Amino acid sequence: MPSIAIKTPSASYDVTIGSGLLRTLSQRLTKLNPAKPFRPFVITSPEIWKLWSKPFLASFPKEGPAAPTVLLHPAGESHKRMAAVESLAQKLALAGADRDALLIAFGGGVIGDITGFLAAIYMRGVRYVQLPSTLLAQVDSSIGGKTGVNLLAGKNLIGSFNHPQAVLADTDLLRTLPPAELRAGLHESIKAGIIYDARLFSYLEKNAATILAKKSSPAREKALTHVVAASVRVKADVVNQDEKELGLRMILNFGHTLGHAIESATNYKQLLHGEAVAWGSIAALQVALARKTITQAQADRMTRVILSYGPLPQFKATAARLVARTYSDKKNRSGKRAYVLPTGIGKTQVIFDITDAELSTAAESMLTLMRQTKA
Ligand SMILES: NC(=O)c1ccc[n+]([C@@H]2O[C@H](COP(=O)([O-])OP(=O)(O)OC[C@H]3O[C@@H](n4cnc5c(N)ncnc54)[C@H](O)[C@@H]3O)[C@@H](O)[C@H]2O)c1
Ligand SMILES: [Zn+2]
Repeated sequence: MPSIAIKTPSASYDVTIGSGLLRTLSQRLTKLNPAKPFRPFVITSPEIWKLWSKPFLASFPKEGPAAPTVLLHPAGESHKRMAAVESLAQKLALAGADRDALLIAFGGGVIGDITGFLAAIYMRGVRYVQLPSTLLAQVDSSIGGKTGVNLLAGKNLIGSFNHPQAVLADTDLLRTLPPAELRAGLHESIKAGIIYDARLFSYLEKNAATILAKKSSPAREKALTHVVAASVRVKADVVNQDEKELGLRMILNFGHTLGHAIESATNYKQLLHGEAVAWGSIAALQVALARKTITQAQADRMTRVILSYGPLPQFKATAARLVARTYSDKKNRSGKRAYVLPTGIGKTQVIFDITDAELSTAAESMLTLMRQTKA
């Protein structure tokens, strides 16, 4: 089973990827905490719990302090709020959680981000593990220690760096994931390939049909496990070199400048995050092409792979409106926008001199392509 080490100045832990992790959870938690007792508290959403509570509970005793206490929280971005943190903290306190509590974030990125933040501040910090259940959470959000919630003023504006004790990515969980959610997560894997790992990019290019097959099969499981592990390796490698996003970690933001602008211009309702990133990536390839950091053939190849993991939803927005929205990006420093530009397949650089005119031209090409791909 692939196991990938995260080693940063503030934490060292493993990301384990494979089938059947859920069924051995209790033993794994005990192994992680050999000397210090713990009481497990699982934070999950009703939908996930309905689908997966049986295998989740299989390895735990049915009663007593080692039996998990279940705290349910509704799924969805609109519930990633301070109110959720307070309500879950209150529930923890009423259930008798003390400093020995061990929180288990069992869900997608929303549950993971809330739980990681709650673990950072409940009684000034308790242990937690990530059990990511979406592809996006397995390849991206569960890794790297960023946790937090949204404000009405913007996404992820409150939070902290707080790494889990372990990330256990059980690939069986992906079987019940809606296909659009799976594809959206795969766009973060394509991103990882484009910015850092040409082999992962080629693998995604060659194996799209197997990975996107409707029915689960050993070939699909194998391919998905490969993609998750390779994507985690990219994120781990980047985070290990730049935990606090002072430099290199910014490359993970490829496709996100216009991607976030698209999400914000459509009120976070029309596209999944990964779908918006896919359009943003297509635009970023146009910027790179105009700056001649990639060739036409490379731009075409990368665009083709992104579109092959579609269909990507259409949306209504003008290039000018999208460019205007890029100014509220959290990654900006002193009014300057950090922009991630590919310099080949698997290679990137971060630039700070991107102009509105460049972004606007690239957004225009992307919008034209979107209209052409209309079904
Ligand atoms: N912390 C980070 O570094 C980081 C990085 C990227 C994204 N994020 C955050 O991640 C969040 C998005 O995460 P997400 O895409 O996982 O969305 P999500 O958590 O909203 O999950 C998507 C949907 O899938 C359902 N679901 C989850 N697992 C399932 C399963 N196994 N079977 C069936 N349905 C399942 C959920 O109930 C939900 O409806 C955003 O809030 C984003 O800000 C954080
Ligand atoms: Zn993303």
